[in-house]
Amino acid sequence: MTHLSRSCRKLGDTSWEAPSLADWCPAIAKSSPLQNDGRTPSAPHEGANERKTSRAADLGIGCDDKVMIRVAKYHTDFGNIEVLRAKDSGSFIYRQGGCYQSECDPNGVSVVPYIHAIFGLLAQARVSDVLMIGCGGGSLGTMLDRIGVRVTIVDINPKAFQIARKYFGLPRGVHSFISDGRDFLRAGRHRYDAIVLDAYSGRRIPDHLCAETFFGLAQTRLKNSSGILIGNVHARHDLDIMPDRVAVKLANIWADVRLLDIRGALDRNALVMAGKVRDLVQPVLLMPPSVGAEEIEQELGLLAFRPWHVPRRAA
Ligand SMILES: C[S@@+](CC[C@H](N)C(=O)[O-])C[C@H]1O[C@@H](n2cnc3c(N)ncnc32)[C@H](O)[C@@H]1O
Repeated sequence: MTHLSRSCRKLGDTSWEAPSLADWCPAIAKSSPLQNDGRTPSAPHEGANERKTSRAADLGIGCDDKVMIRVAKYHTDFGNIEVLRAKDSGSFIYRQGGCYQSECDPNGVSVVPYIHAIFGLLAQARVSDVLMIGCGGGSLGTMLDRIGVRVTIVDINPKAFQIARKYFGLPRGVHSFISDGRDFLRAGRHRYDAIVLDAYSGRRIPDHLCAETFFGLAQTRLKNSSGILIGNVHARHDLDIMPDRVAVKLANIWADVRLLDIRGALDRNALVMAGKVRDLVQPVLLMPPSVGAEEIEQELGLLAFRPWHVPRRAA
């Protein structure tokens, strides 16, 4: 831990309670049947008392038939967080407010395509100092740390860091701050090579982290000539103009703004980026996870830079 701002709090202790079943929804657009094993944290990864629930196929990309074991559940001020483990692959899932926030293989490498897309873009840009706003399981931070990038993560929920370290392999060397993303930017002066905005409350980016004023603030915390901002913006379908709206706001601040997206897909993660992004090309899989690498490669292959449109009312 380094410079704690006034709005940052120290990492606190975790509370845990026996697991119970809850509903599913498509934050990272994946669905799985669930086993509820009622275990205590002292034996977090072993299954018992299997119970299966299935979900409808309306969850979009990545639906499968994995059997999940719930290994922990936390009540937090920001909603319940569940840690699930896929019985076959051993991958860990971080689910908050009923939505997937992160999923990684047993070695801490993400199995989520958009995380690999961001990783590939940051590698192309040769970044060495990255701020992530939004930890969840912290997979992107773990992967960046492994290639020697200095990573700072800020998350409003203290439990995120505890869970990321305990189940998702987030290295101790990653700098962690408990704070709202905007408060953190306001409080500091350090300039980063890149800022990754991946903050979600359930399936929504908090409004203030999507405001033009916030992006203006973010620009002041990026290195002048080389800084990049990348935002993960959920799009339900092709008529959902949220990614384009974000692009418009970024374009009021930066000269170069680009949008990487999979047209036609339901419940997808579009990446909106600004700053020194002109030369970036479609990202490829650089750090394959032990499970699902083929599917990730396929999905990265579907990504394409597309023109973004000014929504009429925002013009
Ligand atoms: C999708 S997860 C991030 C996943 C992460 N990028 C990874 O590599 O696995 C979203 C996170 O955003 C955090 N968050 C929500 N609102 C926030 C805010 N106002 N400031 C900072 N973090 C916030 C949530 O607590 C949650 O942990």
